Amino acid sequence: MAETSLLIIYNVLLYIFFSFILIQSAPQSALVTEIPGLTATLPSKHYSGYVTIDQSNGKNLFYYFVESERNPTEDPVVLWLNGGPGCSSFDGFVYEHGPFNFEPAETKGGLPNLHLNPYSWSKVSNIIYLDSPAGVGFSYSKNQTDYRTGDLQTASDTHTFLLKWFELYQEFLSNPFFIAGESYAGVYVPTLAHEVVKGIDAGIKPILNFKGYMVGNGVADEHFDGNALVPFAHGMGLISDDLFEEVNNECRGNYYNPLSETCQSKLAKVDEDLEGLNIYDILEPCYHGTDIKEITTANIKLPSSFRQLGETERPFAVRKRMFGRAWPLRAPVRDGIVPTWPQLLNSNSVPCTDDEVATSWLNDKGVRKAIHAEEESVVGRWDLCTDNIIYNHDAGSMIKYHKNLTSRGYRALIFSGDHDMCVPYTGSEAWTRSIGYKIVDEWRPWTSRGQVAGFTQGYENNLTFLTVKGSGHTVPEYKPKEALDFYSRFLAGKPI
Ligand SMILES: *[C@@H]1O[C@H](CO)[C@@H](O)[C@H](O)[C@H]1NC(C)=O
Ligand SMILES: *[C@@H]1O[C@H](CO)[C@@H](O)[C@H](O)[C@H]1NC(C)=O
Ligand SMILES: *[C@@H]1O[C@H](CO)[C@@H](O)[C@H](O)[C@H]1NC(C)=O
Repeated sequence: MAETSLLIIYNVLLYIFFSFILIQSAPQSALVTEIPGLTATLPSKHYSGYVTIDQSNGKNLFYYFVESERNPTEDPVVLWLNGGPGCSSFDGFVYEHGPFNFEPAETKGGLPNLHLNPYSWSKVSNIIYLDSPAGVGFSYSKNQTDYRTGDLQTASDTHTFLLKWFELYQEFLSNPFFIAGESYAGVYVPTLAHEVVKGIDAGIKPILNFKGYMVGNGVADEHFDGNALVPFAHGMGLISDDLFEEVNNECRGNYYNPLSETCQSKLAKVDEDLEGLNIYDILEPCYHGTDIKEITTANIKLPSSFRQLGETERPFAVRKRMFGRAWPLRAPVRDGIVPTWPQLLNSNSVPCTDDEVATSWLNDKGVRKAIHAEEESVVGRWDLCTDNIIYNHDAGSMIKYHKNLTSRGYRALIFSGDHDMCVPYTGSEAWTRSIGYKIVDEWRPWTSRGQVAGFTQGYENNLTFLTVKGSGHTVPEYKPKEALDFYSRFLAGKPI
């Protein structure tokens, strides 16, 4: 009798002990205890490090995890992915919705000053920034053959990462889980969501509590994305009515793959008109240095209220450097090898995009040590976008993925900064409509802090299309307040 009681007490103690270990399971070695450049105290816990997804090849993916500043145990977990292919998700962390605003150093070569970002997405969610695929950002493989990859391999690798990550952070397994990303992540997000859902169907442990996904100015489909530019340019007043009519007559609804010489010459005229614009935000200058910026600004004839539409509301002008031209116009992502930015341009920088602050911060030895990233001797220098990888677009159009996921009850938000010319909203609006779902929330303005912030149309099966007025390609960078508003509402399952 006494022996049984002792055994029971022993088992209860054992149970309590192991539950305690489980609850405390976040790896303490990954805890970030100090952020070089930041004087304020961290408003929530941060963790970072590597997850090995292939032991034999030594394939390691780097993540930075920011706990929610509101209620980490209840708030959703969101995986964030930047695009490229080849661009690091620290783009999102440093320039878009990360926990800090980076103020460039006053002295050359010095560390930037970091301030807390009042519009960080960690205000309402736990968020994982992942460098993917291996070879991008701080992620790497010891076997170089891994740097030849594509959509399907990347989705499968990121799924493996998620399963391992949630094993390390089991206390977050029951939180609602979402996947989000931008630009080429318009491919990463639905292909990964598909892997996740297949895994759930097959009962692969741990079972992820997947709820839905978000794509911003995302690549989706060769036909729709390819045809998006001409109507965009016309609607924005960048090409004349005459030219628009001529292109329509000559190209017969195919604006990206000209089938006749006359069509080709009309399209060349369109390109000529658009040359010199900042492809990421047609209202912003695309300039080489601060001196040119001043001259351009002084000469601008637009009323200032209109100019301000495209201006970032971030408290610090982070991206001072804008240069060159960007992704060739009318070049939708096609099946096959997708050139990375640096491969396309034969240089290490992405045009019209500044990476100075991120590059100086993430290549600092002390910063790397503090955030548990490998040294330069192991992973090389951090680049915003790398040409280390050879990337094959092998998943085709994303429309079939979106149909499948939304018809199975996963919620989708497709949002577009409406002044982006890289992946214009006209393409995203057209492909979401083409799915043929019934409209349940007819085109209407949506508001943020009492002002119209853009327009939205809701379809059945929780598919929502949304524009962000006056925003460029990277929405949270241009419109941080508005972005946090629609993000919070979407995650909470509320109307936007
Ligand atoms: C690298 O990976 C490839 C494909 O997984 C494999 O065939 C090759 O043997 C590996 N090389 C080394 C040195 O391990
Ligand atoms: C969606 O994809 C899953 C997994 O591949 C498949 O089993 C299912 O039949 C698809 N459903 C639809 C509606 O296409
Ligand atoms: C849409 O999302 C809401 C909120 O998560 C959910 O209650 C509802 O069942 C979903 N509707 C469909 C058709 O999946």
